[in-house]
Amino acid sequence: MADARLIALTRAGFEPECAQELEHALAVRGGAGYAQTQRDSGFVELHVQQPPNARLHVRDLIFARQLLPLIGTFDALDPKDRVGPILAAVKASGVMVSDVWVETADSPAGEQLRAFARSFESAMAAALKRERRMDASRSLQRLHLFARSGTHIDVAIAKHADAAPWKGGIPRLRFPSEAPSRSTLKLEEAFLVLLGEDERDRWLQPGMTAVDLGACPGGWTYQFVRRSIRTTAVDNGPMAESLMATGLVDHVRADGFRYQPGKPVEWMVCDMVEQPIKVAERMATWLREGWCRRTIFNLKLPMKKRWPEVQRCFARMHESVPFALDLRAKQLYHDREEVTVFATRG
Ligand SMILES: C[S@@+](CC[C@H](N)C(=O)[O-])C[C@H]1O[C@@H](n2cnc3c(N)ncnc32)[C@H](O)[C@@H]1O
Repeated sequence: MADARLIALTRAGFEPECAQELEHALAVRGGAGYAQTQRDSGFVELHVQQPPNARLHVRDLIFARQLLPLIGTFDALDPKDRVGPILAAVKASGVMVSDVWVETADSPAGEQLRAFARSFESAMAAALKRERRMDASRSLQRLHLFARSGTHIDVAIAKHADAAPWKGGIPRLRFPSEAPSRSTLKLEEAFLVLLGEDERDRWLQPGMTAVDLGACPGGWTYQFVRRSIRTTAVDNGPMAESLMATGLVDHVRADGFRYQPGKPVEWMVCDMVEQPIKVAERMATWLREGWCRRTIFNLKLPMKKRWPEVQRCFARMHESVPFALDLRAKQLYHDREEVTVFATRG
């Protein structure tokens, strides 16, 4: 039997980390296989030679933003009829799909394909409807077409719950003009990607309290303030006047690695640029001491051995607390040389 294959979309330049992580994720689930990729392509192809005993989920992976289980690949489509062969593959699968997304890599080559992707998606949707293969009210499986080029397209069908709920795994967020810095989008994306909808509802309630370590000028603090969450902003730099004027922010000029809250808080977030292991240890201390219930923080990645460094940080955190930790991490669209982590008592 041919290998099962999956396509993972990643940040361009991070294909080696994504490939290492996928092979590791397969191995720890009792499977085996190998990943193939090209530098700066923005995607990795995973060949599964021995199936894992538990399914790989995009939410468990740090460097993959989207994960697509393939049912086929067309590498020499006729530009005069690209729809026909793909429609035939969907029919052969016997699956009714809810809708269709044409996705491209987050790379210069992928960028060039955006206009094609939009028009091909419309053409494909029309054909699927005509053939009664697409009905949003009757299916929880989506057809994903990953366009490597205009004539090379991978075909995947994924359950809504298994794949990222945004095209290419990228939530398109609008920059709020009243926010003091663009990095506000990083925390907003982290809330969307790392938390479930019910967790966001329960854990981001007005009247809660937060500490923001390395807060200036206040992009992350803004995300709490707009939810009426009182925030202590710890940083020696200046906070945006507009945030201070809300009356919801206490600005403490102190070292974020030494600061301790007077009372436990719901949230501690940290965007200080420091060695990742030092940040990880401090975050673990906050959780162990019960100073915060949950935390979101960045780990700035080194130039080399980036995936092993993340693993080292997680291992250190697990060792540092006497209870199970729920650790979730993703290299977000708004992240660069860093990953964003959510941690709480498991
Ligand atoms: C990347 S910026 C934070 C941006 C902020 N999250 C935002 O959205 O506007 C990093 C901040 O960490 C602060 N910082 C770095 N080391 C610190 C430390 N040891 N204690 C307190 N603040 C620190 C810097 O002064 C800087 O303002």
